[in-house]
Amino acid sequence: MRSSHHGDGYDVLVVGGGIIGLVTAWRTAQRGLRVAVVDPEPGGGAARVAAGMLAAVTELHYGEELLLGLNLASAARYPDFVAELEEASGRETGFRTCGTLAVALDSDDRAHLRDLHALQQRSGLESQWLTGRECRRLEPMLAPGVRGGLRVDGDHQIDPRRLAAALLTACERAGVVLHRERAERLAVVHGRAAGVVLAGGADLAADQVVLAAGSLSGRLAGLPDGLAPPVRPVKGQVLRLAVPAPYAPFLGRTVRAVVRGGHVYLVPRENGELVLGATSEEMGWDTTVTAGGVYELLRDAHELVPGITELPLTEVRAGLRPGSPDNAPLLGPTALPGLHLATGHHRNGVLLTPVTGDAMAALLADGELPEEARPFTPHRFPSAADSARQEQPA
Ligand code: GLY
Repeated sequence: MRSSHHGDGYDVLVVGGGIIGLVTAWRTAQRGLRVAVVDPEPGGGAARVAAGMLAAVTELHYGEELLLGLNLASAARYPDFVAELEEASGRETGFRTCGTLAVALDSDDRAHLRDLHALQQRSGLESQWLTGRECRRLEPMLAPGVRGGLRVDGDHQIDPRRLAAALLTACERAGVVLHRERAERLAVVHGRAAGVVLAGGADLAADQVVLAAGSLSGRLAGLPDGLAPPVRPVKGQVLRLAVPAPYAPFLGRTVRAVVRGGHVYLVPRENGELVLGATSEEMGWDTTVTAGGVYELLRDAHELVPGITELPLTEVRAGLRPGSPDNAPLLGPTALPGLHLATGHHRNGVLLTPVTGDAMAALLADGELPEEARPFTPHRFPSAADSARQEQPA
Protein backbone atom coordinates (compact mmCIF):
# COMPACT_ATOMS: atom_id res chain seq x y z
CA MET A 1 0.00 0.00 0.00
CA ARG A 2 1.23 3.51 -0.82
CA SER A 3 1.30 6.00 2.02
CA SER A 4 1.86 9.74 2.40
CA HIS A 5 5.28 11.24 2.97
CA HIS A 6 3.64 14.49 4.12
CA GLY A 7 3.10 14.51 7.86
CA ASP A 8 0.06 16.77 7.59
CA GLY A 9 -1.16 15.95 4.08
CA TYR A 10 -3.50 13.36 2.68
CA ASP A 11 -2.60 10.25 0.79
CA VAL A 12 -5.31 11.05 -1.77
CA LEU A 13 -7.23 14.23 -2.57
CA VAL A 14 -10.29 13.85 -4.77
CA VAL A 15 -11.42 16.99 -6.61
CA GLY A 16 -15.18 16.63 -7.14
CA GLY A 17 -17.79 15.15 -4.81
CA GLY A 18 -20.28 13.77 -7.32
CA ILE A 19 -20.95 10.03 -7.37
CA ILE A 20 -17.67 9.28 -9.20
CA GLY A 21 -15.55 11.31 -6.77
CA LEU A 22 -17.37 9.90 -3.75
CA VAL A 23 -17.14 6.26 -4.82
CA THR A 24 -13.42 6.77 -5.51
CA ALA A 25 -12.97 8.29 -2.05
CA TRP A 26 -15.01 5.63 -0.26
CA ARG A 27 -13.32 2.65 -1.90
CA THR A 28 -9.87 4.19 -1.39
CA ALA A 29 -10.52 4.96 2.29
CA GLN A 30 -11.58 1.32 2.71
CA ARG A 31 -8.05 0.39 1.58
CA GLY A 32 -6.62 2.28 4.58
CA LEU A 33 -5.50 5.50 2.86
CA ARG A 34 -6.13 8.98 4.25
CA VAL A 35 -8.56 10.55 1.78
CA ALA A 36 -10.20 13.95 1.37
CA VAL A 37 -12.82 15.25 -1.08
CA VAL A 38 -12.98 18.88 -2.21
CA ASP A 39 -16.39 20.10 -3.39
CA PRO A 40 -18.62 23.03 -2.35
CA GLU A 41 -21.65 20.72 -2.52
CA PRO A 42 -20.62 17.07 -2.14
CA GLY A 43 -23.36 14.69 -3.26
CA GLY A 44 -24.48 17.10 -6.00
CA GLY A 45 -23.43 17.25 -9.65
CA ALA A 46 -25.02 15.43 -12.57
CA ALA A 47 -26.51 12.78 -10.24
CA ARG A 48 -29.01 15.44 -9.05
CA VAL A 49 -30.56 15.27 -12.51
CA ALA A 50 -29.80 11.77 -13.85
CA ALA A 51 -32.58 9.20 -14.17
CA GLY A 52 -30.37 6.34 -12.97
CA MET A 53 -30.94 3.75 -15.70
CA LEU A 54 -28.43 0.90 -15.55
CA ALA A 55 -28.83 0.29 -19.26
CA ALA A 56 -25.74 -1.57 -20.50
CA VAL A 57 -27.81 -3.55 -23.02
CA THR A 58 -30.46 -1.06 -24.18
CA GLU A 59 -27.92 1.78 -24.53
CA LEU A 60 -25.51 -0.30 -26.63
CA HIS A 61 -24.16 1.66 -29.63
CA TYR A 62 -22.17 0.63 -32.69
CA GLY A 63 -18.46 1.14 -32.18
CA GLU A 64 -18.70 1.04 -28.38
CA GLU A 65 -17.97 -2.66 -27.87
CA LEU A 66 -15.00 -1.90 -25.59
CA LEU A 67 -17.16 0.32 -23.40
CA LEU A 68 -19.79 -2.45 -23.34
CA GLY A 69 -17.31 -4.71 -21.50
CA LEU A 70 -16.81 -2.11 -18.76
CA ASN A 71 -20.56 -1.37 -18.59
CA LEU A 72 -21.37 -5.07 -18.19
CA ALA A 73 -18.68 -5.52 -15.54
CA SER A 74 -20.18 -2.66 -13.56
CA ALA A 75 -23.79 -3.84 -14.03
CA ALA A 76 -22.82 -7.30 -12.74
CA ARG A 77 -21.30 -5.71 -9.64
CA TYR A 78 -24.39 -3.62 -8.81
CA PRO A 79 -26.33 -5.96 -6.49
CA ASP A 80 -23.33 -6.61 -4.19
CA PHE A 81 -22.23 -2.99 -4.42
CA VAL A 82 -25.67 -1.75 -3.33
CA ALA A 83 -25.88 -4.27 -0.49
CA GLU A 84 -22.46 -3.21 0.82
CA LEU A 85 -23.18 0.50 0.42
CA GLU A 86 -26.58 0.31 2.11
CA GLU A 87 -25.01 -1.62 5.00
CA ALA A 88 -22.11 0.85 5.30
CA SER A 89 -24.30 3.96 5.12
CA GLY A 90 -27.55 2.80 6.72
CA ARG A 91 -29.34 4.39 3.73
CA GLU A 92 -31.41 2.91 0.93
CA THR A 93 -30.53 3.66 -2.68
CA GLY A 94 -33.74 2.83 -4.55
CA PHE A 95 -32.07 0.04 -6.56
CA ARG A 96 -34.80 -1.79 -8.52
CA THR A 97 -34.30 -4.93 -10.59
CA CYS A 98 -37.26 -4.07 -12.77
CA GLY A 99 -35.87 -4.51 -16.31
CA THR A 100 -36.42 -2.31 -19.36
CA LEU A 101 -38.67 -2.31 -22.42
CA ALA A 102 -37.45 -0.41 -25.51
CA VAL A 103 -40.30 0.14 -27.97
CA ALA A 104 -40.81 1.30 -31.56
CA LEU A 105 -43.58 3.72 -32.55
CA ASP A 106 -43.25 3.54 -36.34
CA SER A 107 -41.56 1.46 -39.01
CA ASP A 108 -38.33 3.52 -38.89
CA ASP A 109 -38.11 2.99 -35.12
CA ARG A 110 -38.79 -0.68 -35.62
CA ALA A 111 -35.96 -1.00 -38.14
CA HIS A 112 -33.66 0.78 -35.68
CA LEU A 113 -34.68 -1.56 -32.85
CA ARG A 114 -34.23 -4.62 -35.08
CA ASP A 115 -30.66 -3.45 -35.79
CA LEU A 116 -30.06 -2.96 -32.06
CA HIS A 117 -31.43 -6.43 -31.39
CA ALA A 118 -29.07 -7.94 -33.97
CA LEU A 119 -26.11 -6.07 -32.45
CA GLN A 120 -27.10 -7.27 -28.97
CA GLN A 121 -27.28 -10.87 -30.21
CA ARG A 122 -23.89 -10.62 -31.92
CA SER A 123 -22.52 -9.28 -28.63
CA GLY A 124 -23.95 -12.24 -26.70
CA LEU A 125 -26.46 -10.10 -24.77
CA GLU A 126 -29.87 -11.17 -23.57
CA SER A 127 -32.87 -9.40 -25.08
CA GLN A 128 -36.17 -10.63 -26.46
CA TRP A 129 -38.12 -9.28 -29.44
CA LEU A 130 -41.81 -8.62 -28.67
CA THR A 131 -44.73 -7.71 -30.93
CA GLY A 132 -46.67 -4.51 -30.22
CA ARG A 133 -49.42 -6.57 -28.62
CA GLU A 134 -46.93 -8.34 -26.34
CA CYS A 135 -45.43 -4.98 -25.34
CA ARG A 136 -48.87 -3.69 -24.35
CA ARG A 137 -49.64 -6.84 -22.42
CA LEU A 138 -46.48 -6.17 -20.40
CA GLU A 139 -47.12 -2.41 -20.05
CA PRO A 140 -50.83 -1.61 -20.55
CA MET A 141 -50.25 2.18 -20.47
CA LEU A 142 -48.30 2.06 -23.76
CA ALA A 143 -49.86 3.72 -26.81
CA PRO A 144 -52.01 1.36 -28.92
CA GLY A 145 -49.82 2.10 -31.98
CA VAL A 146 -46.61 0.60 -30.53
CA ARG A 147 -45.11 -1.53 -33.33
CA GLY A 148 -42.82 -3.83 -31.39
CA GLY A 149 -40.16 -3.77 -28.73
CA LEU A 150 -37.17 -5.29 -27.02
CA ARG A 151 -37.53 -6.73 -23.55
CA VAL A 152 -34.29 -6.50 -21.57
CA ASP A 153 -34.75 -8.02 -18.14
CA GLY A 154 -31.17 -7.28 -17.06
CA ASP A 155 -31.24 -3.45 -17.41
CA HIS A 156 -32.26 -2.09 -14.00
CA GLN A 157 -32.36 1.30 -12.25
CA ILE A 158 -31.25 3.12 -9.11
CA ASP A 159 -32.16 6.52 -7.66
CA PRO A 160 -29.00 8.62 -8.24
CA ARG A 161 -29.88 11.18 -5.54
CA ARG A 162 -30.18 8.45 -2.94
CA LEU A 163 -27.05 6.77 -4.31
CA ALA A 164 -25.13 10.06 -3.85
CA ALA A 165 -26.50 10.52 -0.30
CA ALA A 166 -25.52 6.95 0.63
CA LEU A 167 -22.02 7.41 -0.79
CA LEU A 168 -21.60 10.65 1.15
CA THR A 169 -22.53 8.97 4.44
CA ALA A 170 -20.36 5.94 3.64
CA CYS A 171 -17.43 8.30 2.97
CA GLU A 172 -17.93 10.10 6.27
CA ARG A 173 -18.18 6.82 8.16
CA ALA A 174 -15.00 5.56 6.47
CA GLY A 175 -13.10 8.65 7.65
CA VAL A 176 -13.03 10.63 4.39
CA VAL A 177 -12.54 14.34 5.14
CA LEU A 178 -14.91 16.67 3.24
CA HIS A 179 -13.67 20.16 2.33
CA ARG A 180 -16.86 21.99 1.31
CA GLU A 181 -15.06 24.52 -0.88
CA ARG A 182 -14.14 24.94 -4.52
CA ALA A 183 -10.72 23.73 -5.66
CA GLU A 184 -9.15 26.73 -7.39
CA ARG A 185 -5.79 25.44 -8.59
CA LEU A 186 -3.72 22.29 -8.83
CA ALA A 187 -0.44 22.55 -6.92
CA VAL A 188 2.54 21.14 -8.82
CA VAL A 189 5.84 20.77 -6.97
CA HIS A 190 9.04 19.45 -8.60
CA GLY A 191 7.07 18.14 -11.59
CA ARG A 192 4.52 16.27 -9.48
CA ALA A 193 0.91 16.93 -8.42
CA ALA A 194 1.15 17.88 -4.77
CA GLY A 195 -2.37 18.94 -3.77
CA VAL A 196 -4.74 21.82 -4.48
CA VAL A 197 -5.24 25.44 -3.48
CA LEU A 198 -8.81 26.10 -2.32
CA ALA A 199 -10.86 29.12 -3.45
CA GLY A 200 -10.45 30.56 0.07
CA GLY A 201 -6.64 30.40 -0.32
CA ALA A 202 -5.87 27.37 1.88
CA ASP A 203 -3.38 24.76 0.62
CA LEU A 204 -4.19 21.07 0.85
CA ALA A 205 -1.24 18.74 0.34
CA ALA A 206 -1.57 15.19 -0.95
CA ASP A 207 0.57 12.43 -2.44
CA GLN A 208 -1.99 11.78 -5.17
CA VAL A 209 -4.74 13.93 -6.68
CA VAL A 210 -7.77 12.57 -8.51
CA LEU A 211 -9.63 14.91 -10.84
CA ALA A 212 -13.26 13.73 -10.74
CA ALA A 213 -15.16 16.95 -11.34
CA GLY A 214 -17.43 15.73 -14.15
CA SER A 215 -17.87 18.21 -16.99
CA LEU A 216 -15.85 20.78 -15.00
CA SER A 217 -12.75 18.58 -14.87
CA GLY A 218 -10.92 20.55 -17.55
CA ARG A 219 -11.38 23.87 -15.77
CA LEU A 220 -9.09 23.43 -12.77
CA ALA A 221 -6.38 26.09 -12.98
CA GLY A 222 -2.78 24.99 -12.82
CA LEU A 223 -3.10 21.91 -15.03
CA PRO A 224 0.07 21.73 -17.11
CA ASP A 225 -0.27 22.35 -20.87
CA GLY A 226 -1.90 19.44 -22.67
CA LEU A 227 -3.16 17.77 -19.51
CA ALA A 228 -6.68 19.23 -19.28
CA PRO A 229 -9.00 16.26 -19.77
CA PRO A 230 -10.94 16.36 -23.05
CA VAL A 231 -14.37 16.47 -21.41
CA ARG A 232 -17.19 18.74 -22.51
CA PRO A 233 -20.63 19.46 -21.04
CA VAL A 234 -23.56 17.69 -22.75
CA LYS A 235 -26.79 19.18 -21.49
CA GLY A 236 -29.69 16.95 -20.49
CA GLN A 237 -33.11 18.26 -19.51
CA VAL A 238 -35.14 15.92 -17.32
CA LEU A 239 -38.68 16.12 -15.90
CA ARG A 240 -40.08 14.50 -12.80
CA LEU A 241 -43.72 13.53 -12.45
CA ALA A 242 -45.64 11.94 -9.60
CA VAL A 243 -47.85 8.89 -9.89
CA PRO A 244 -50.76 9.39 -7.46
CA ALA A 245 -52.12 6.22 -5.82
CA PRO A 246 -55.15 5.76 -8.13
CA TYR A 247 -52.80 5.58 -11.17
CA ALA A 248 -50.27 3.17 -9.61
CA PRO A 249 -48.56 1.12 -10.86
CA PHE A 250 -48.37 3.35 -13.89
CA LEU A 251 -45.42 1.48 -15.43
CA GLY A 252 -43.78 -1.67 -14.10
CA ARG A 253 -40.37 -1.17 -15.71
CA THR A 254 -38.31 1.46 -17.51
CA VAL A 255 -39.86 2.21 -20.90
CA ARG A 256 -37.84 3.92 -23.61
CA ALA A 257 -37.91 4.72 -27.30
CA VAL A 258 -36.09 6.67 -29.97
CA VAL A 259 -38.60 9.20 -31.33
CA ARG A 260 -37.54 11.39 -34.29
CA GLY A 261 -33.92 10.56 -33.50
CA GLY A 262 -34.09 11.66 -29.84
CA HIS A 263 -34.03 9.33 -26.84
CA VAL A 264 -37.00 9.42 -24.51
CA TYR A 265 -37.32 7.29 -21.40
CA LEU A 266 -39.68 6.90 -18.47
CA VAL A 267 -38.20 5.49 -15.26
CA PRO A 268 -40.76 4.51 -12.60
CA ARG A 269 -39.51 4.55 -9.03
CA GLU A 270 -40.95 2.52 -6.19
CA ASN A 271 -41.77 5.73 -4.29
CA GLY A 272 -44.16 6.88 -7.04
CA GLU A 273 -41.80 9.23 -8.85
CA LEU A 274 -41.68 8.94 -12.64
CA VAL A 275 -38.55 10.37 -14.26
CA LEU A 276 -38.85 11.50 -17.87
CA GLY A 277 -35.67 12.19 -19.84
CA ALA A 278 -33.70 13.38 -21.58
CA THR A 279 -32.51 15.90 -24.11
CA SER A 280 -28.93 15.74 -25.34
CA GLU A 281 -27.68 19.21 -26.27
CA GLU A 282 -24.25 20.64 -27.05
CA MET A 283 -24.88 24.04 -25.43
CA GLY A 284 -21.68 24.67 -23.48
CA TRP A 285 -22.25 25.47 -19.83
CA ASP A 286 -25.89 26.48 -20.24
CA THR A 287 -28.26 24.74 -17.80
CA THR A 288 -31.42 26.67 -18.68
CA VAL A 289 -34.61 24.65 -18.76
CA THR A 290 -36.20 25.61 -22.07
CA ALA A 291 -39.79 25.54 -23.29
CA GLY A 292 -38.57 23.69 -26.40
CA GLY A 293 -36.76 21.00 -24.41
CA VAL A 294 -39.73 20.39 -22.12
CA TYR A 295 -42.14 20.46 -25.07
CA GLU A 296 -40.17 17.85 -27.01
CA LEU A 297 -39.85 15.53 -24.04
CA LEU A 298 -43.56 15.74 -23.23
CA ARG A 299 -44.55 15.40 -26.89
CA ASP A 300 -42.42 12.28 -27.39
CA ALA A 301 -43.36 10.73 -24.05
CA HIS A 302 -47.02 11.40 -24.77
CA GLU A 303 -46.74 9.50 -28.06
CA LEU A 304 -45.25 6.62 -26.11
CA VAL A 305 -47.50 6.67 -23.03
CA PRO A 306 -50.50 9.02 -23.61
CA GLY A 307 -51.64 8.82 -19.96
CA ILE A 308 -48.66 10.87 -18.70
CA THR A 309 -50.59 14.10 -19.33
CA GLU A 310 -52.80 13.22 -16.32
CA LEU A 311 -49.85 13.15 -13.91
CA PRO A 312 -48.65 16.06 -11.74
CA LEU A 313 -45.40 17.58 -13.02
CA THR A 314 -43.19 18.07 -9.95
CA GLU A 315 -39.77 19.16 -11.23
CA VAL A 316 -37.85 20.24 -14.32
CA ARG A 317 -34.08 20.46 -14.28
CA ALA A 318 -31.07 20.44 -16.58
CA GLY A 319 -27.69 18.84 -15.86
CA LEU A 320 -24.39 18.45 -17.66
CA ARG A 321 -23.07 15.04 -18.64
CA PRO A 322 -19.26 14.91 -18.85
CA GLY A 323 -18.89 13.94 -22.53
CA SER A 324 -15.61 12.51 -23.83
CA PRO A 325 -14.46 12.15 -27.47
CA ASP A 326 -15.33 8.41 -27.59
CA ASN A 327 -18.17 8.47 -25.00
CA ALA A 328 -16.08 6.35 -22.63
CA PRO A 329 -14.61 7.44 -19.29
CA LEU A 330 -11.05 8.54 -18.62
CA LEU A 331 -9.69 6.45 -15.77
CA GLY A 332 -6.15 6.41 -14.48
CA PRO A 333 -2.84 8.23 -14.41
CA THR A 334 -1.95 11.26 -16.50
CA ALA A 335 1.47 12.29 -17.77
CA LEU A 336 1.91 14.37 -14.58
CA PRO A 337 3.07 12.05 -11.80
CA GLY A 338 0.58 11.96 -8.95
CA LEU A 339 -2.36 13.27 -11.03
CA HIS A 340 -5.13 10.83 -11.99
CA LEU A 341 -8.46 11.20 -13.79
CA ALA A 342 -11.87 9.68 -13.09
CA THR A 343 -14.13 11.62 -15.43
CA GLY A 344 -15.77 11.65 -18.89
CA HIS A 345 -18.43 9.06 -18.02
CA HIS A 346 -20.92 10.78 -20.34
CA ARG A 347 -24.23 8.81 -20.43
CA ASN A 348 -22.97 6.05 -18.13
CA GLY A 349 -21.87 7.69 -14.88
CA VAL A 350 -24.41 5.97 -12.65
CA LEU A 351 -23.92 2.59 -14.31
CA LEU A 352 -20.12 2.85 -14.09
CA THR A 353 -20.00 3.93 -10.44
CA PRO A 354 -19.12 0.50 -8.92
CA VAL A 355 -16.40 -0.40 -11.42
CA THR A 356 -14.90 3.10 -11.28
CA GLY A 357 -14.61 2.96 -7.49
CA ASP A 358 -12.89 -0.41 -7.63
CA ALA A 359 -10.52 0.57 -10.44
CA MET A 360 -9.49 3.88 -8.88
CA ALA A 361 -8.98 2.38 -5.42
CA ALA A 362 -6.73 -0.33 -6.91
CA LEU A 363 -4.73 2.30 -8.76
CA LEU A 364 -4.38 4.59 -5.75
CA ALA A 365 -3.63 1.89 -3.20
CA ASP A 366 -1.60 -0.59 -5.28
CA GLY A 367 -0.32 1.62 -8.09
CA GLU A 368 -1.98 -0.39 -10.87
CA LEU A 369 -5.28 -0.28 -12.72
CA PRO A 370 -7.14 -3.59 -12.97
CA GLU A 371 -7.12 -5.20 -16.41
CA GLU A 372 -10.73 -4.21 -17.20
CA ALA A 373 -10.00 -0.48 -16.81
CA ARG A 374 -6.74 -0.32 -18.75
CA PRO A 375 -8.29 0.49 -22.15
CA PHE A 376 -9.74 3.67 -20.60
CA THR A 377 -6.62 5.55 -19.49
CA PRO A 378 -6.31 9.23 -20.51
CA HIS A 379 -3.27 8.33 -22.63
CA ARG A 380 -5.59 7.36 -25.50
CA PHE A 381 -6.12 11.10 -26.20
CA PRO A 382 -2.62 12.52 -26.50
CA SER A 383 -3.60 15.61 -28.49
CA ALA A 384 -7.32 16.03 -27.75
CA ALA A 385 -6.53 17.43 -24.32
CA ASP A 386 -5.20 20.70 -25.72
CA SER A 387 -8.06 21.36 -28.11
CA ALA A 388 -10.75 20.63 -25.50
CA ARG A 389 -9.27 23.18 -23.16
CA GLN A 390 -9.08 25.85 -25.85
CA GLU A 391 -12.81 25.41 -26.58
CA GLN A 392 -13.82 26.12 -22.99
CA PRO A 393 -14.91 29.58 -21.83
CA ALA A 394 -12.62 31.61 -19.61
N1 GLY B 1 -28.04 7.50 -19.79
C1 GLY B 1 -29.12 8.37 -19.96
C2 GLY B 1 -28.77 9.73 -20.37
O1 GLY B 1 -27.61 10.09 -20.36
O2 GLY B 1 -29.66 10.47 -20.70
